[in-house]
Amino acid sequence: MKTKRKLLAIHIIFIFLITSCSSKNTLDGDNTYIDSLISEMTIEEKVGQLNFPVGDLFNTGPTVRTSESARFDDLIREGKITGLFNAHGAAYTARLQKIAVEESRLGIPLLFGADVIHGFKTVFPLPLAEAASWDLEAIELAAKIAAKESTAAGINFNFAPMVDIARDARWGRISEGAGEDPYLGSLVAAARVRGFQGKSLSDPSTMAACVKHFAAYGAPVGGRDYNSVDMSLQALHEYYLPPYKAAIEAGSATVMTSFNDVNGIPATAHQYLLEDVLRKDWGFKGMVVSDWQSIGEMLAHGFVADSLEAAKLAIEAGTDMDMMADIYLKKIPELIKNGQLDEKILDQAVRRVLALKYDLGLFSNPYLYSNPEREKSDIRSEENLAVAHDIAKKSIVLLKNENKLLPLAKNIKKLALIGPLADNKEDMNGSWSFFGEAQHPVSIAEGIKNKVSSTTKIAFAKGCNLYDNDKSQFAEAVRIAKESDIVVMVLGESAVMNGEGASRADIGLPGVQEDLLKAIHQTGKPIAVLLLSGRPLTLEWMDQNIPAIVETWTLGSQAGLAVADVLFGDYNPAGKLPVTFPRAVGQLPLYYNHKNTGRPYHGKHEEPLTERVYRSRYRDVSNDPLYPFGYGLSYSTFAYSNITVDKKSIKSGEQIKVSVTLTNTSDRDGEEVVQLYIRDMVASVTRPVKELKGFQKVMLKAGEARAISFVLTDKELSFINHDLKRVTEPGQFAVMVGGNSRDTLTEYFELTQ
Ligand code: NOJ
Repeated sequence: MKTKRKLLAIHIIFIFLITSCSSKNTLDGDNTYIDSLISEMTIEEKVGQLNFPVGDLFNTGPTVRTSESARFDDLIREGKITGLFNAHGAAYTARLQKIAVEESRLGIPLLFGADVIHGFKTVFPLPLAEAASWDLEAIELAAKIAAKESTAAGINFNFAPMVDIARDARWGRISEGAGEDPYLGSLVAAARVRGFQGKSLSDPSTMAACVKHFAAYGAPVGGRDYNSVDMSLQALHEYYLPPYKAAIEAGSATVMTSFNDVNGIPATAHQYLLEDVLRKDWGFKGMVVSDWQSIGEMLAHGFVADSLEAAKLAIEAGTDMDMMADIYLKKIPELIKNGQLDEKILDQAVRRVLALKYDLGLFSNPYLYSNPEREKSDIRSEENLAVAHDIAKKSIVLLKNENKLLPLAKNIKKLALIGPLADNKEDMNGSWSFFGEAQHPVSIAEGIKNKVSSTTKIAFAKGCNLYDNDKSQFAEAVRIAKESDIVVMVLGESAVMNGEGASRADIGLPGVQEDLLKAIHQTGKPIAVLLLSGRPLTLEWMDQNIPAIVETWTLGSQAGLAVADVLFGDYNPAGKLPVTFPRAVGQLPLYYNHKNTGRPYHGKHEEPLTERVYRSRYRDVSNDPLYPFGYGLSYSTFAYSNITVDKKSIKSGEQIKVSVTLTNTSDRDGEEVVQLYIRDMVASVTRPVKELKGFQKVMLKAGEARAISFVLTDKELSFINHDLKRVTEPGQFAVMVGGNSRDTLTEYFELTQ
């Protein structure tokens, strides 16, 4: 009783101090309040601060726990949990917080975490889709609104952004990141962190970001989720680590480890990654949380013999918080008692967790984020929905538009709308949108109805289901197609077909959707396909036979409005693929920044057979993608000409200016993402044939021509050498500019030392 009173007194004095000074970023280390708090804590209370279970509202992983809404009360009172994730709602989080603050011995406030991956109740496009906008401001704004909405409901710790580079579309979680490129991926990662965290973590409408999944979770063997990752350290540093680093540099307060092992060591106990790279090289001062049960999963990996060893290796490597495994809670006291773990390591982990709570402002006001008024006014506001509409339009990629079939006229007489996703609301929210409600999104059918003239007749037929082999609905679809002037087909993946645990060995259209498309094609009617997916799909037949194809991904709350804007020309599409679309699944992993190999194949079938056979190629499929990275059409057309460099030779430390003339050769205003790539022609480690090093999104009036310039410095010309050092090496560079990674103009220059 005495201790509790003493602590309350300390608390009150410090709360006074905290509220009277502006919140200091404790990630810098020194914080007397936290140190004095730690000095009062028992081992059990310290360990409680590292224990992070899922709340009772819903699970985002496998669990054996039962659901009783009051089951956390005692654990909170006893100081056995640091917070809960997936628990949300101002009233509910405030109720739990009150128990922590008023009824636990030390009154330490709780964290509330969640996966607010692409919006809270206002759902934004899937992260992969947003990356297709190449619009960093829009991406930052979407993250800012996601934070504004979810913090009103009590959540202050966001398990996002996911920044895993993904080169294999079989991997279902490709939908959650920014695609295959480290340069674009890094910029997007930083934009999302800025959006979530704003200028100050203690601002009640911002939340702590958690960059994940550290590291290389996006490169599982065979694209199968949770599988091992085995790659050279050079590739890891050059292609996979940059987006995490960019997120850290943008200030991400926390990091999540990944499920996979990296070159034989599970990421959750990876000393090299967590200590040498993250903390020593990158200077990360924040808190590291495990992924869901990943501490315990080290047993299945065959890396530890039991949970005791798992706890020891994970905390010693720098995993501060245990998500869902309960292993720290159960095993760390034993490790300390047996002298197997230095208490200083425990204190350090606790300090990082408390520092996060401090920076979030929770010690000054534990209820900062549980705001019933804001919960009413800030969630799904008109303003937020307007932003969702805007970024949804920007995320759409026009893949094919033969003979200018699109945009459609609004006064078209008879439109047949066909497909299992055409009149669907729920799937518009996409994977990882637990807070988005099924009835909210605008369906494609609603969007189209809203747009066409009052005289347009729309006939709808589902045609088939998403997955099964039932063709009984084909006849009706064919019938309405025959009676129409134009057919719009909405095909693709449902929300659950991508995301966690949703790897696919075949990434074609699921079920009998392609057969349905072929049946409708037989009618001879013009067809525009709207594709919904969270990953590249194999679309070769469609590309060869269907005149118009639009990748609409999964666009969230305002999907139907955005799609209709593009379909009927109220918005001129400008999205570009952040990921390569293969022709066949057997080409995977397929990515634009590949090496040349010693036997490159350029697809010249007129070459003698012997030349072709002993080349790096497939016998049955071309090496080329169906749609390359950076690709996307517009209703405008653009021409690139006159690429120049301002110097033919530069010394290391100098910069070079690359210019090109971009002309809008159409009669329609439009936007183009001008992309700059380089190739280091000869180097001490083989270099990719192209690497993105700059882009600009440019709006040009019909007929307008403009000079576009980029500046390259050592930073862009450098690479990671065999000793894992970032270096530039003298020699020739090619610089390429174009509207996608395939169709570019080239110039050369020399770099001298
Ligand atoms: C497992 C996922 O890998 C991770 O991304 C997520 O944040 C957690 N589950 C919590 O839902």
